[in-house]
Amino acid sequence: MKPVTTVSTAELVARCAARRAALLEVLGDGLLLVPTAAESLRNGDVHHTFRPGSDLAWLTGFPEPESILAAWREAKGRVRTVLFVRPKDKVREIWDGRRYGVQGAKRTFGVDETHPIGEFWKRLPGLLAPHRRLFCRLGADSSFDRRLFEVFAGLAGQRARSRAGLPAHPDLVDPSPALAGARLIKDAVEIRCLERAAQVTAEGHVAAMLVAQPGIGEHQLQAALEATFRSLGSRRNGYDSIVAGGANACVLHYHENDRPVRRGELVLIDAGAEIDHYTADITRTWPVDGRFSDAQRAVYEVVLRAQKAAIRAVKPGAGTDRPHLVAQRELTKGLVKLGVLRGDPAKLFHDKKFMPYYMHGTSHWLGMDVHDVGAYQDESGKAHGFRAGQVLTVEPGLYFDPKDRHVPKELRGIGIRIEDDILVTADGCRNLTEACPKEVRDLEALVGRDWRA
Ligand code: GLY
Ligand code: MN
Ligand code: MN
Repeated sequence: MKPVTTVSTAELVARCAARRAALLEVLGDGLLLVPTAAESLRNGDVHHTFRPGSDLAWLTGFPEPESILAAWREAKGRVRTVLFVRPKDKVREIWDGRRYGVQGAKRTFGVDETHPIGEFWKRLPGLLAPHRRLFCRLGADSSFDRRLFEVFAGLAGQRARSRAGLPAHPDLVDPSPALAGARLIKDAVEIRCLERAAQVTAEGHVAAMLVAQPGIGEHQLQAALEATFRSLGSRRNGYDSIVAGGANACVLHYHENDRPVRRGELVLIDAGAEIDHYTADITRTWPVDGRFSDAQRAVYEVVLRAQKAAIRAVKPGAGTDRPHLVAQRELTKGLVKLGVLRGDPAKLFHDKKFMPYYMHGTSHWLGMDVHDVGAYQDESGKAHGFRAGQVLTVEPGLYFDPKDRHVPKELRGIGIRIEDDILVTADGCRNLTEACPKEVRDLEALVGRDWRA
C-alpha cells in the first residue's frame, strides 16, 4: 500500500523550490548549508526512530538521514541547489530500508545536483570558494562545526595566495532567524497538512473518549488514541502523548501513562498526530465515567470560557501576547468565583495571584514542530502583531495540587486544560481543531458511548 500523504511529491518539490528562493531572497548572496537532524543511537546497533530536521524537510522534502542541502543565488536570482545524500547500498538497504540514492534523489526532489554524502567535506571548499558569506547554524553537532573551521583554515591559505583581496574566510551568518521567519507564515500546502493533522488528531481524541470507562488504564486510552492516528496515516506523533487520569493532570508534561483511571476522575489527554511532517496539538479533558461532578464542571466552564475568549483575541494586528493576557484575566475571575482567590479580580490579575494554578503560557507557534519556530516579540520585548498564515495553539488550564490547603477541598487534584490549533486568517482566525468536541454536553454524550451502548 502506498503511504498516505496529503501532498503530492510534485507539489512538494515545487513548494520547496519556492521556499528556497524566498529564503535566499531574504538572506541575500552567500552559500546556505542546512544539514538534516543527526541520527541518535539508542543502544548497540539500534537507533531511535529517525525524523528529518524540520529546516531541511521544509526546504527540500528529503526524508533520509545523513543529508545536507547547499543552495545559493546565481546571477539574476536563480537558485542553484545541491543535495548530499546517502548513496545506494545493497547490503545496507537489505538491513535498514530503501534509499533514494544519488540519482533517485536528483530525479525526485527537483534539485540541480546530488552527490554522495561522503563527498561533502571534499566538495565544500569548492562550493564556498566564490562566496563572501556562509549561512550555516553552528551548535547542533560539534564535529560538523570543527570540520567546518578546518575548511575555513584551508580557504584562508588559498585566499591569501590568490591576492584577490578576499577576506580569509566567508562571514559566518546564522540563517535560523530568517528560516524561522519564513516558516512562521504557512503556505497553502502547509495549511492543508495542518488541517489533516488536526482532523486525524481530533478523531484519535474521540476514539479515546468512546472506549473510556472507569478503571481503564491510561495506556489503554493512549492505545485507542494512537491506533486511530496510525490507521489514519500518521506515522508518528508530534510529541509523546500525555494521558493523565485524576491528579496526574496536574503534572504538565506527565508521560508515565500507566495508571488506571478511577470512577469520578477526569482524564486529560494532550496529543498530536504528525502528518507529512506537520503536527497538531490538542488537549481535551473529560470525566472517565461520562459525567462531570459539580466541582469538575465549574472548573471546566471557567477554563472553557477563558479559552474561547483567548481565541477571540487572535486576529491580524493584535499582539501575540493578547491571548495569554485575556486567558489569565478570565481565569483569575473564575478563580474568584470558584472560591480559590478572594478580592478584586483586576488587582489579583495585576498581582499574578493566578500563578500557582495557571503557570504555563497560553500559546505557541505550531507547524513542523510542536513548539514551532518564530519570534513572538522584538528585541525590546514588545509583542509582534499576528499575521495571516500563522498557526498557534490556545491552551489555558487550571491545576489544583491535591495537597494545596488553600484550595477548596472538592477542587483539589483537578487538572483541566483545553487546547485548540488556530490559524490566523485575513480577517480573524479559524479553529483547525474545531471537530474535536469540547462542550460539556458533547463530551458527556461521547465518553464511554462504546461500552454504555
Ligand atoms: N503538548 C505540548 C504543549 O501543549 O505545549
Ligand atoms: Mn501546546
Ligand atoms: Mn499540547
